[in-house]
Amino acid sequence: MLKDKTIVLGVTGGIAAYKAADIVSRLKKQGAHVHCVMTEGAQAFLTPLTLRTLSGNPVITAMFDEPKQWNVEHVALADKADFFLIAPATANIIGKVANGIADDFLSTTIMATTAQVIFAPAMNVNMYNNPIFQENMAKLKKAGYLFIEPGEGDLACGYKGKGRMAEPEKIVNFLQDLLNRQKDLEGINILVTAGPTREPIDPVRYITNRSSGKMGYSIAERAVKRGACVTLISGPTSLTPPEGVNLIKVETAEEMFSKVKEHYASNQVIIKAAAVSDYRPKFYQEAKIKKSEGDLQIVLGRNPDILNFLGQNKGKRILVGFAAETNDLQVNAQKKITKKNLDFIVANDVTEKGAGFNYDTNKVTLFFPSGEQKNLPLMSKLQVADIILDEVKLLLSNKGVS
Ligand code: PMT
Repeated sequence: MLKDKTIVLGVTGGIAAYKAADIVSRLKKQGAHVHCVMTEGAQAFLTPLTLRTLSGNPVITAMFDEPKQWNVEHVALADKADFFLIAPATANIIGKVANGIADDFLSTTIMATTAQVIFAPAMNVNMYNNPIFQENMAKLKKAGYLFIEPGEGDLACGYKGKGRMAEPEKIVNFLQDLLNRQKDLEGINILVTAGPTREPIDPVRYITNRSSGKMGYSIAERAVKRGACVTLISGPTSLTPPEGVNLIKVETAEEMFSKVKEHYASNQVIIKAAAVSDYRPKFYQEAKIKKSEGDLQIVLGRNPDILNFLGQNKGKRILVGFAAETNDLQVNAQKKITKKNLDFIVANDVTEKGAGFNYDTNKVTLFFPSGEQKNLPLMSKLQVADIILDEVKLLLSNKGVS
């Protein structure tokens, strides 16, 4: 329940503004305190009086309004919010926030808040697909802003496609889920591995893979936000580590193995998102290999299988593996569950567009030892991370932890 939570609802100018009334009334039914901010555009579609009546609070409509009977100051509203929901969110407001423009009450307050900001976009399908808009959205997602995906169908402008604001029920459920997840992993130690490994050939060359670290870093980020104490063992990446994680940087699979062995015992949960190189050059050349006539052969030797070690020394821990597959996803992933003694495996087909290496999104299937499988649609890596952590949370509860 959203009881006693303060939700600031920003309404911007689009035909879906009328749905804001339904959102307010649903939030009020759950016992939330709702404060509405309307842009000038929003007021062309819906009157402030409607939202004032439904929320029971004055509605802010202009930057320099004199607060009348209302004693909440403008910036205080930003501080007060548990959630800051923008519904409907136009391309304009998303563009402004993404580019640091704060020129009206709503954009100013969004910039000033430390609360979780959630956008529910609504617009014409071509606007939605416009690369500039997509870039703005990606920038905000990266900065931790959340988006409730618009639906597909007939749009008010006569077009068909993606751009219809999510239904009020879905929006309110989204807030509810967010609230349920807040700090639900408090007191849990989680070890996450991320990124590629680099296996040196000589002082200037190495063997690596396409992992950017985004999947593992997303898991670490969400786990910290949900209250866990997170150790992130990361191969080389260009990512900024999430605030609050204990970051341990490694280069090679052997270094990763050594750090995992040092840290795994104090963690109740281990999630292995790293793309560990199975092989390394068997003989490291101390000096740069010089070019010569003919081919060069490099002999590769096996690297340690870290996940296998963890499976054998699992104890009561929850162990989650990943499987990066290019074919026979199900068969290959299921084999790994038993072989590595996993609680579940997150499998991605890395040949699919939007899935696997380097994308901000992923499309995964979760396979469980019981044979159960959960196919997830394409979504952001942060969302995938939350779903993995939901499963972890469930397993912890079943084991009586937390
Ligand atoms: O980093 P991104 O760009 O965001 O990309 C994400 C990802 C594709 C790297 C990620 O989603 C993923 O699939 N990670 C696992 C990659 C992998 O190595 O898969 P695998 O099927 O080869 O290995 C299976 C499991 O064994 C993995 O949990 C892996 O961490 C582990 N492993 C593998 C080899 C090894 N020597 N030791 C291991 O522990």
